[in-house]
Amino acid sequence: MSKTAELHYNGKIFKLPIVTGSENENALDISKLRGESGLITLDRGFKNTGSCESAITFLNGEEGVLKYRGYSIEELAEKSTFLEVSFLLIYGELPTQSELDTFTKDITEHSLVHEDVRAILDGYPSKAHPMGVLSSLVSSLTAFYPRSLDPNRSSEQVEGTIIRALAKLPTLAAWSYKNRVRQPIVYPKNHLSYSANFMQMMFSLPTTDYKVSPVIAKAIDKLLILHADHEQNCSTSTVRVVGSSHASLYASVSAGIAALWGPLHGGANQAVIEMLEEIKLDGGDVDKFVAKAKDKNDSFRLMGFGHRVYKSFDPRATIIKKAADDVLTELNVVDPVLEIAKKLERVALEDDYFKSRNLYPNVDFYSGIIYRALGIPTDMFTVMFALGRLPGWIAQWKEMRENHEPIGRPRQVYTGENARSYVDIENR
Ligand code: ACO
Repeated sequence: MSKTAELHYNGKIFKLPIVTGSENENALDISKLRGESGLITLDRGFKNTGSCESAITFLNGEEGVLKYRGYSIEELAEKSTFLEVSFLLIYGELPTQSELDTFTKDITEHSLVHEDVRAILDGYPSKAHPMGVLSSLVSSLTAFYPRSLDPNRSSEQVEGTIIRALAKLPTLAAWSYKNRVRQPIVYPKNHLSYSANFMQMMFSLPTTDYKVSPVIAKAIDKLLILHADHEQNCSTSTVRVVGSSHASLYASVSAGIAALWGPLHGGANQAVIEMLEEIKLDGGDVDKFVAKAKDKNDSFRLMGFGHRVYKSFDPRATIIKKAADDVLTELNVVDPVLEIAKKLERVALEDDYFKSRNLYPNVDFYSGIIYRALGIPTDMFTVMFALGRLPGWIAQWKEMRENHEPIGRPRQVYTGENARSYVDIENR
Protein backbone atom coordinates (compact mmCIF):
# COMPACT_ATOMS: atom_id res chain seq x y z
CA MET A 1 0.00 0.00 0.00
CA SER A 2 1.37 3.40 -0.86
CA LYS A 3 2.26 5.57 2.13
CA THR A 4 1.27 9.19 2.67
CA ALA A 5 2.01 11.88 5.23
CA GLU A 6 -0.52 14.48 6.29
CA LEU A 7 0.02 18.19 6.55
CA HIS A 8 -2.46 20.11 8.69
CA TYR A 9 -2.61 23.74 7.68
CA ASN A 10 -5.26 26.43 7.81
CA GLY A 11 -7.91 23.97 8.99
CA LYS A 12 -7.33 21.61 6.07
CA ILE A 13 -5.51 18.32 5.68
CA PHE A 14 -3.17 17.83 2.71
CA LYS A 15 -2.01 14.35 1.85
CA LEU A 16 1.62 14.09 0.71
CA PRO A 17 2.68 10.84 -1.00
CA ILE A 18 5.83 9.16 0.32
CA VAL A 19 8.30 8.00 -2.32
CA THR A 20 10.52 5.11 -1.21
CA GLY A 21 13.86 4.40 -2.85
CA SER A 22 15.50 1.01 -3.39
CA GLU A 23 17.57 1.45 -0.21
CA ASN A 24 14.37 2.28 1.73
CA GLU A 25 14.97 6.00 1.91
CA ASN A 26 11.67 7.86 2.22
CA ALA A 27 10.84 11.23 0.71
CA LEU A 28 7.79 13.45 0.88
CA ASP A 29 6.56 14.22 -2.61
CA ILE A 30 5.67 17.92 -2.43
CA SER A 31 5.34 18.49 -6.18
CA LYS A 32 1.59 19.36 -5.86
CA LEU A 33 1.92 21.19 -2.53
CA ARG A 34 1.86 24.75 -3.82
CA GLY A 35 -1.04 24.15 -6.20
CA GLU A 36 -3.15 22.57 -3.45
CA SER A 37 -2.20 24.57 -0.34
CA GLY A 38 -0.41 27.71 -1.55
CA LEU A 39 2.64 26.65 0.49
CA ILE A 40 6.17 26.10 -0.73
CA THR A 41 8.98 24.54 1.29
CA LEU A 42 12.03 26.49 2.44
CA ASP A 43 15.32 24.58 2.67
CA ARG A 44 18.41 26.75 2.52
CA GLY A 45 21.31 24.90 0.92
CA PHE A 46 18.92 22.04 -0.05
CA LYS A 47 19.91 20.17 3.10
CA ASN A 48 16.67 18.13 3.09
CA THR A 49 15.57 18.42 -0.51
CA GLY A 50 15.74 15.61 -3.05
CA SER A 51 15.90 17.16 -6.51
CA CYS A 52 15.42 13.94 -8.48
CA GLU A 53 15.10 10.17 -8.39
CA SER A 54 18.37 8.65 -9.52
CA ALA A 55 19.64 5.10 -10.07
CA ILE A 56 23.34 6.00 -10.32
CA THR A 57 24.94 6.46 -6.91
CA PHE A 58 23.84 5.59 -3.40
CA LEU A 59 25.40 7.03 -0.32
CA ASN A 60 24.52 6.72 3.32
CA GLY A 61 26.27 9.43 5.27
CA GLU A 62 25.44 8.00 8.70
CA GLU A 63 26.99 4.63 7.93
CA GLY A 64 29.70 5.79 5.52
CA VAL A 65 28.42 3.81 2.51
CA LEU A 66 29.08 4.73 -1.12
CA LYS A 67 28.03 2.60 -4.10
CA TYR A 68 28.07 3.23 -7.83
CA ARG A 69 25.21 1.37 -9.54
CA GLY A 70 25.08 -0.99 -6.55
CA TYR A 71 28.82 -1.81 -6.47
CA SER A 72 30.71 -0.72 -3.35
CA ILE A 73 33.38 1.94 -3.77
CA GLU A 74 35.82 -0.26 -1.85
CA GLU A 75 35.47 -3.09 -4.39
CA LEU A 76 35.59 -0.81 -7.41
CA ALA A 77 38.67 1.04 -6.13
CA GLU A 78 40.46 -2.24 -5.57
CA LYS A 79 39.47 -4.22 -8.68
CA SER A 80 38.42 -1.95 -11.54
CA THR A 81 39.87 0.80 -13.70
CA PHE A 82 38.67 4.36 -14.19
CA LEU A 83 37.38 3.69 -17.71
CA GLU A 84 35.51 0.59 -16.53
CA VAL A 85 33.89 2.66 -13.75
CA SER A 86 33.09 5.42 -16.26
CA PHE A 87 31.27 2.89 -18.45
CA LEU A 88 29.42 1.54 -15.40
CA LEU A 89 28.26 5.00 -14.32
CA ILE A 90 27.22 6.17 -17.76
CA TYR A 91 25.58 3.00 -19.13
CA GLY A 92 24.47 1.33 -15.88
CA GLU A 93 26.32 -2.02 -16.17
CA LEU A 94 29.92 -3.19 -15.91
CA PRO A 95 31.22 -3.59 -19.49
CA THR A 96 32.03 -6.93 -21.08
CA GLN A 97 35.62 -7.21 -22.35
CA SER A 98 34.59 -6.30 -25.90
CA GLU A 99 32.45 -3.35 -24.71
CA LEU A 100 35.37 -2.07 -22.65
CA ASP A 101 37.77 -2.51 -25.58
CA THR A 102 35.51 -0.51 -27.90
CA PHE A 103 34.89 2.18 -25.27
CA THR A 104 38.64 2.49 -24.56
CA LYS A 105 39.50 2.60 -28.27
CA ASP A 106 36.85 5.28 -28.96
CA ILE A 107 38.12 7.45 -26.12
CA THR A 108 41.78 6.96 -27.06
CA GLU A 109 41.12 7.87 -30.70
CA HIS A 110 39.32 11.13 -29.82
CA SER A 111 41.89 12.53 -27.39
CA LEU A 112 43.38 15.08 -29.80
CA VAL A 113 41.79 18.52 -29.66
CA HIS A 114 41.37 20.89 -32.58
CA GLU A 115 44.57 22.88 -33.24
CA ASP A 116 42.61 26.14 -33.01
CA VAL A 117 42.08 25.46 -29.29
CA ARG A 118 45.78 26.30 -28.94
CA ALA A 119 45.05 29.83 -30.10
CA ILE A 120 42.43 30.21 -27.36
CA LEU A 121 44.86 28.81 -24.82
CA ASP A 122 47.57 31.22 -25.93
CA GLY A 123 45.25 34.12 -25.06
CA TYR A 124 45.31 33.30 -21.35
CA PRO A 125 47.89 34.92 -19.10
CA SER A 126 50.09 32.40 -17.30
CA LYS A 127 48.56 33.48 -13.99
CA ALA A 128 45.16 32.10 -15.07
CA HIS A 129 43.94 29.41 -12.69
CA PRO A 130 43.72 26.10 -14.60
CA MET A 131 40.11 25.54 -13.40
CA GLY A 132 38.96 28.75 -15.10
CA VAL A 133 40.86 27.85 -18.24
CA LEU A 134 39.47 24.32 -18.23
CA SER A 135 35.89 25.44 -17.72
CA SER A 136 36.08 27.86 -20.64
CA LEU A 137 37.92 25.40 -22.93
CA VAL A 138 35.24 22.78 -22.31
CA SER A 139 32.56 25.35 -23.13
CA SER A 140 34.48 26.30 -26.27
CA LEU A 141 34.16 22.70 -27.54
CA THR A 142 30.60 23.71 -28.52
CA ALA A 143 32.20 25.95 -31.15
CA PHE A 144 34.19 23.07 -32.64
CA TYR A 145 31.31 20.58 -32.44
CA PRO A 146 28.25 22.75 -33.14
CA ARG A 147 25.98 19.74 -33.54
CA SER A 148 26.52 19.05 -29.82
CA LEU A 149 24.51 22.22 -29.13
CA ASP A 150 21.25 20.35 -29.62
CA PRO A 151 21.10 17.44 -27.17
CA ASN A 152 17.74 16.39 -28.67
CA ARG A 153 19.31 15.71 -32.06
CA SER A 154 20.01 11.95 -32.06
CA SER A 155 21.36 9.36 -29.67
CA GLU A 156 24.43 8.83 -31.93
CA GLN A 157 25.16 12.54 -31.72
CA VAL A 158 24.85 12.53 -27.93
CA GLU A 159 27.03 9.41 -27.78
CA GLY A 160 29.74 11.14 -29.83
CA THR A 161 29.60 14.16 -27.51
CA ILE A 162 29.98 11.92 -24.45
CA ILE A 163 33.01 10.12 -25.91
CA ARG A 164 34.64 13.40 -26.96
CA ALA A 165 34.14 14.90 -23.50
CA LEU A 166 35.83 11.91 -21.82
CA ALA A 167 38.57 11.77 -24.45
CA LYS A 168 39.46 15.45 -24.52
CA LEU A 169 39.22 16.49 -20.87
CA PRO A 170 42.67 15.05 -19.92
CA THR A 171 44.22 16.83 -22.92
CA LEU A 172 42.55 20.16 -22.05
CA ALA A 173 43.42 19.71 -18.37
CA ALA A 174 47.11 19.04 -19.08
CA TRP A 175 47.22 21.95 -21.54
CA SER A 176 45.73 24.30 -18.94
CA TYR A 177 48.71 23.37 -16.75
CA LYS A 178 51.24 23.81 -19.58
CA ASN A 179 49.81 27.30 -20.09
CA ARG A 180 50.29 28.00 -16.39
CA VAL A 181 53.98 27.09 -16.49
CA ARG A 182 54.51 28.46 -20.00
CA GLN A 183 55.79 25.21 -21.45
CA PRO A 184 54.96 23.87 -24.91
CA ILE A 185 51.88 21.67 -24.91
CA VAL A 186 52.32 17.91 -25.24
CA TYR A 187 50.05 15.81 -27.47
CA PRO A 188 48.26 12.65 -26.30
CA LYS A 189 49.92 9.27 -26.91
CA ASN A 190 47.52 6.52 -27.91
CA HIS A 191 49.53 3.58 -26.57
CA LEU A 192 49.24 4.79 -22.96
CA SER A 193 46.40 4.23 -20.50
CA TYR A 194 44.02 7.09 -19.67
CA SER A 195 45.85 8.06 -16.47
CA ALA A 196 49.38 7.47 -17.81
CA ASN A 197 48.58 9.52 -20.92
CA PHE A 198 47.37 12.42 -18.77
CA MET A 199 50.57 12.33 -16.71
CA GLN A 200 52.82 12.34 -19.78
CA MET A 201 50.91 15.34 -21.22
CA MET A 202 51.47 17.10 -17.89
CA PHE A 203 55.15 16.38 -17.44
CA SER A 204 56.84 15.56 -20.77
CA LEU A 205 59.03 18.26 -22.27
CA PRO A 206 60.33 18.67 -25.82
CA THR A 207 63.70 17.73 -24.37
CA THR A 208 62.66 14.75 -22.24
CA ASP A 209 59.97 12.12 -22.32
CA TYR A 210 58.30 11.66 -18.95
CA LYS A 211 58.35 7.98 -18.03
CA VAL A 212 55.12 7.24 -16.20
CA SER A 213 55.76 5.08 -13.16
CA PRO A 214 53.18 2.27 -12.87
CA VAL A 215 52.78 3.14 -9.15
CA ILE A 216 51.85 6.70 -10.03
CA ALA A 217 49.54 5.73 -12.92
CA LYS A 218 47.72 3.24 -10.67
CA ALA A 219 47.38 5.78 -7.85
CA ILE A 220 45.95 8.38 -10.27
CA ASP A 221 43.48 5.83 -11.65
CA LYS A 222 42.31 4.99 -8.12
CA LEU A 223 41.90 8.67 -7.24
CA LEU A 224 39.81 9.21 -10.36
CA ILE A 225 37.57 6.25 -9.42
CA LEU A 226 37.04 7.64 -5.91
CA HIS A 227 35.92 10.97 -7.33
CA ALA A 228 33.84 9.60 -10.20
CA ASP A 229 30.39 10.35 -8.75
CA HIS A 230 28.83 11.48 -5.51
CA GLU A 231 25.11 11.89 -6.20
CA GLN A 232 23.53 15.37 -5.96
CA ASN A 233 26.46 17.49 -4.72
CA CYS A 234 26.97 21.16 -5.65
CA SER A 235 28.65 20.62 -9.04
CA THR A 236 26.49 17.64 -10.09
CA SER A 237 23.30 19.51 -9.23
CA THR A 238 24.68 22.40 -11.27
CA VAL A 239 25.27 20.09 -14.26
CA ARG A 240 21.72 18.74 -13.98
CA VAL A 241 20.14 22.19 -13.60
CA VAL A 242 22.09 23.67 -16.53
CA GLY A 243 21.31 20.58 -18.64
CA SER A 244 17.62 20.81 -17.69
CA SER A 245 17.34 23.91 -19.90
CA HIS A 246 18.49 21.63 -22.78
CA ALA A 247 21.92 23.28 -22.84
CA SER A 248 24.60 21.06 -24.38
CA LEU A 249 26.66 18.54 -22.43
CA TYR A 250 29.80 20.67 -22.88
CA ALA A 251 28.05 23.78 -21.48
CA SER A 252 26.65 21.76 -18.56
CA VAL A 253 30.05 20.22 -17.73
CA SER A 254 31.72 23.61 -18.03
CA ALA A 255 29.26 24.93 -15.40
CA GLY A 256 29.99 21.87 -13.24
CA ILE A 257 33.71 22.66 -13.36
CA ALA A 258 32.99 26.23 -12.21
CA ALA A 259 30.86 24.94 -9.30
CA LEU A 260 33.54 22.43 -8.32
CA TRP A 261 36.19 25.16 -8.20
CA GLY A 262 35.07 26.74 -4.89
CA PRO A 263 37.00 25.94 -1.69
CA LEU A 264 33.91 24.54 0.04
CA HIS A 265 33.62 21.90 -2.68
CA GLY A 266 36.38 20.53 -4.95
CA GLY A 267 38.66 23.48 -4.28
CA ALA A 268 39.11 22.13 -0.74
CA ASN A 269 41.98 19.85 -1.83
CA GLN A 270 44.02 22.89 -2.90
CA ALA A 271 42.93 24.79 0.21
CA VAL A 272 44.11 21.89 2.42
CA ILE A 273 47.70 22.09 1.18
CA GLU A 274 47.68 25.90 1.32
CA MET A 275 46.45 25.67 4.93
CA LEU A 276 49.15 23.12 5.83
CA GLU A 277 51.81 25.32 4.25
CA GLU A 278 50.48 28.32 6.19
CA ILE A 279 50.73 26.32 9.45
CA LYS A 280 54.30 25.32 8.56
CA LEU A 281 55.30 28.89 7.74
CA ASP A 282 53.77 30.05 11.01
CA GLY A 283 56.06 27.72 12.95
CA GLY A 284 54.03 24.49 12.81
CA ASP A 285 51.80 25.10 15.87
CA VAL A 286 48.85 22.84 14.99
CA ASP A 287 46.99 23.56 18.25
CA LYS A 288 46.89 27.27 17.43
CA PHE A 289 45.10 26.57 14.14
CA VAL A 290 42.71 24.10 15.72
CA ALA A 291 41.81 26.83 18.25
CA LYS A 292 41.27 29.31 15.38
CA ALA A 293 38.93 26.83 13.65
CA LYS A 294 36.89 26.52 16.86
CA ASP A 295 36.68 30.28 17.43
CA LYS A 296 33.31 31.53 16.19
CA ASN A 297 34.74 35.04 15.76
CA ASP A 298 37.37 33.72 13.36
CA SER A 299 36.28 32.76 9.85
CA PHE A 300 39.09 30.17 9.60
CA ARG A 301 37.92 26.56 9.08
CA LEU A 302 40.00 23.42 8.99
CA MET A 303 39.97 22.68 5.29
CA GLY A 304 39.45 19.02 4.48
CA PHE A 305 37.32 18.48 7.58
CA GLY A 306 33.55 18.03 7.66
CA HIS A 307 31.07 16.97 5.04
CA ARG A 308 27.48 17.86 4.28
CA VAL A 309 26.42 14.22 4.05
CA TYR A 310 29.00 11.99 5.77
CA LYS A 311 28.53 12.24 9.51
CA SER A 312 30.50 9.18 10.61
CA PHE A 313 33.31 8.81 8.11
CA ASP A 314 33.90 9.37 4.42
CA PRO A 315 34.55 5.90 2.90
CA ARG A 316 36.62 7.51 0.15
CA ALA A 317 38.85 9.07 2.81
CA THR A 318 39.54 5.63 4.30
CA ILE A 319 40.61 4.23 0.92
CA ILE A 320 42.62 7.28 -0.04
CA LYS A 321 44.39 7.45 3.34
CA LYS A 322 45.67 3.92 2.74
CA ALA A 323 46.61 4.76 -0.87
CA ALA A 324 48.42 7.89 0.35
CA ASP A 325 50.40 5.82 2.89
CA ASP A 326 51.31 3.23 0.20
CA VAL A 327 52.40 5.88 -2.30
CA LEU A 328 54.45 7.82 0.26
CA THR A 329 56.24 4.65 1.34
CA GLU A 330 56.75 3.35 -2.19
CA LEU A 331 58.06 6.68 -3.53
CA ASN A 332 60.01 7.33 -0.33
CA VAL A 333 58.55 10.81 0.07
CA VAL A 334 59.64 12.86 3.07
CA ASP A 335 57.72 16.11 3.37
CA PRO A 336 57.31 18.28 6.51
CA VAL A 337 53.87 19.41 5.30
CA LEU A 338 52.71 15.80 5.46
CA GLU A 339 53.92 15.54 9.05
CA ILE A 340 51.80 18.58 9.91
CA ALA A 341 48.81 16.90 8.21
CA LYS A 342 49.22 13.79 10.35
CA LYS A 343 49.47 15.87 13.53
CA LEU A 344 46.41 17.94 12.59
CA GLU A 345 44.41 14.80 11.91
CA ARG A 346 45.38 13.38 15.32
CA VAL A 347 44.59 16.55 17.24
CA ALA A 348 41.26 17.25 15.51
CA LEU A 349 40.02 13.67 15.84
CA GLU A 350 40.49 13.84 19.61
CA ASP A 351 38.96 17.29 20.06
CA ASP A 352 35.41 17.57 21.43
CA TYR A 353 34.48 20.42 19.09
CA PHE A 354 35.14 18.24 16.05
CA LYS A 355 33.84 15.03 17.62
CA SER A 356 30.54 16.58 18.73
CA ARG A 357 29.93 18.03 15.26
CA ASN A 358 30.96 14.85 13.43
CA LEU A 359 33.77 16.65 11.63
CA TYR A 360 36.12 14.04 10.19
CA PRO A 361 38.77 14.36 7.49
CA ASN A 362 37.04 14.14 4.12
CA VAL A 363 38.35 12.84 0.79
CA ASP A 364 39.98 16.19 0.02
CA PHE A 365 42.15 16.12 3.12
CA TYR A 366 44.03 13.08 1.84
CA SER A 367 43.73 13.68 -1.90
CA GLY A 368 45.71 16.92 -1.56
CA ILE A 369 48.43 15.01 0.25
CA ILE A 370 48.64 12.23 -2.32
CA TYR A 371 48.59 14.64 -5.30
CA ARG A 372 51.46 16.53 -3.72
CA ALA A 373 53.41 13.30 -3.25
CA LEU A 374 52.76 12.40 -6.91
CA GLY A 375 54.24 15.72 -8.03
CA ILE A 376 50.95 17.33 -9.12
CA PRO A 377 51.15 21.11 -8.62
CA THR A 378 48.75 22.53 -6.01
CA ASP A 379 46.57 24.54 -8.36
CA MET A 380 45.98 21.41 -10.46
CA PHE A 381 44.43 19.48 -7.56
CA THR A 382 40.89 20.61 -8.29
CA VAL A 383 41.44 19.92 -12.00
CA MET A 384 42.27 16.32 -11.00
CA PHE A 385 38.96 16.21 -9.16
CA ALA A 386 37.17 17.46 -12.29
CA LEU A 387 38.84 14.74 -14.39
CA GLY A 388 37.57 12.13 -11.97
CA ARG A 389 34.07 13.60 -11.66
CA LEU A 390 33.46 13.83 -15.41
CA PRO A 391 31.83 10.38 -15.89
CA GLY A 392 29.53 11.13 -12.94
CA TRP A 393 28.47 14.45 -14.43
CA ILE A 394 27.88 12.75 -17.79
CA ALA A 395 25.86 9.91 -16.22
CA GLN A 396 23.73 12.39 -14.25
CA TRP A 397 23.20 14.64 -17.27
CA LYS A 398 22.20 11.62 -19.41
CA GLU A 399 19.82 10.28 -16.74
CA MET A 400 18.21 13.70 -16.32
CA ARG A 401 17.66 13.91 -20.10
CA GLU A 402 16.36 10.32 -20.40
CA ASN A 403 13.94 10.85 -17.50
CA HIS A 404 12.60 13.97 -19.28
CA GLU A 405 13.09 16.03 -16.16
CA PRO A 406 11.54 19.52 -16.21
CA ILE A 407 13.67 22.64 -16.16
CA GLY A 408 15.18 23.21 -12.70
CA ARG A 409 13.65 26.32 -11.23
CA PRO A 410 13.33 26.68 -7.44
CA ARG A 411 10.93 29.02 -5.64
CA GLN A 412 11.82 31.58 -2.96
CA VAL A 413 10.30 33.43 -0.05
CA TYR A 414 10.50 37.10 -0.93
CA THR A 415 11.67 39.30 1.98
CA GLY A 416 12.29 42.60 0.18
CA GLU A 417 10.41 45.90 0.11
CA ASN A 418 6.74 46.01 -0.83
CA ALA A 419 5.38 48.38 -3.51
CA ARG A 420 7.31 51.66 -3.59
CA SER A 421 6.90 54.71 -5.82
CA TYR A 422 9.80 55.74 -8.00
CA VAL A 423 11.67 58.77 -6.63
CA ASP A 424 13.38 61.15 -9.06
CA ILE A 425 17.17 61.18 -8.67
CA GLU A 426 17.35 64.77 -7.42
CA ASN A 427 14.99 63.93 -4.53
CA ARG A 428 16.87 60.89 -3.20
N1 ACO B 1 36.27 23.62 10.58
C1 ACO B 1 35.68 24.13 11.68
N2 ACO B 1 34.35 24.08 11.95
C2 ACO B 1 33.58 23.48 11.04
C3 ACO B 1 34.10 22.93 9.85
C4 ACO B 1 35.51 23.00 9.64
N3 ACO B 1 36.05 22.48 8.54
N4 ACO B 1 33.10 22.41 9.11
C5 ACO B 1 31.97 22.62 9.81
N5 ACO B 1 32.26 23.27 10.98
C6 ACO B 1 31.31 23.60 12.04
C7 ACO B 1 30.45 24.81 11.68
O1 ACO B 1 31.03 26.02 12.14
C8 ACO B 1 29.17 24.48 12.38
O2 ACO B 1 29.36 24.74 13.77
P1 ACO B 1 28.12 25.26 14.69
O3 ACO B 1 27.12 24.14 14.69
O4 ACO B 1 28.73 25.55 16.01
O5 ACO B 1 27.61 26.49 14.01
C9 ACO B 1 29.04 22.97 12.25
O6 ACO B 1 30.39 22.51 12.15
C10 ACO B 1 28.24 22.52 11.04
O7 ACO B 1 28.81 23.13 9.86
P2 ACO B 1 28.00 23.59 8.56
O8 ACO B 1 28.79 24.63 7.85
O9 ACO B 1 26.58 23.92 8.97
O10 ACO B 1 27.95 22.23 7.75
P3 ACO B 1 27.62 22.10 6.22
O11 ACO B 1 27.06 20.75 6.05
O12 ACO B 1 26.78 23.25 5.75
O13 ACO B 1 29.04 22.26 5.51
C11 ACO B 1 31.16 21.73 4.62
C12 ACO B 1 29.81 21.18 5.11
C13 ACO B 1 30.95 22.87 3.61
C14 ACO B 1 31.93 20.61 3.93
C15 ACO B 1 31.96 22.25 5.86
O14 ACO B 1 32.18 21.19 6.76
C16 ACO B 1 33.28 22.92 5.47
O15 ACO B 1 33.30 24.11 5.18
N6 ACO B 1 34.41 22.14 5.45
C17 ACO B 1 35.69 22.67 5.01
C18 ACO B 1 35.75 22.68 3.49
C19 ACO B 1 35.92 21.30 2.89
O16 ACO B 1 36.73 20.50 3.33
N7 ACO B 1 35.13 21.05 1.84
C20 ACO B 1 35.19 19.77 1.10
C21 ACO B 1 33.90 19.01 1.24
S1 ACO B 1 34.08 17.43 0.49
C22 ACO B 1 33.86 17.71 -1.16
O17 ACO B 1 33.25 18.64 -1.60
C23 ACO B 1 34.39 16.69 -2.00
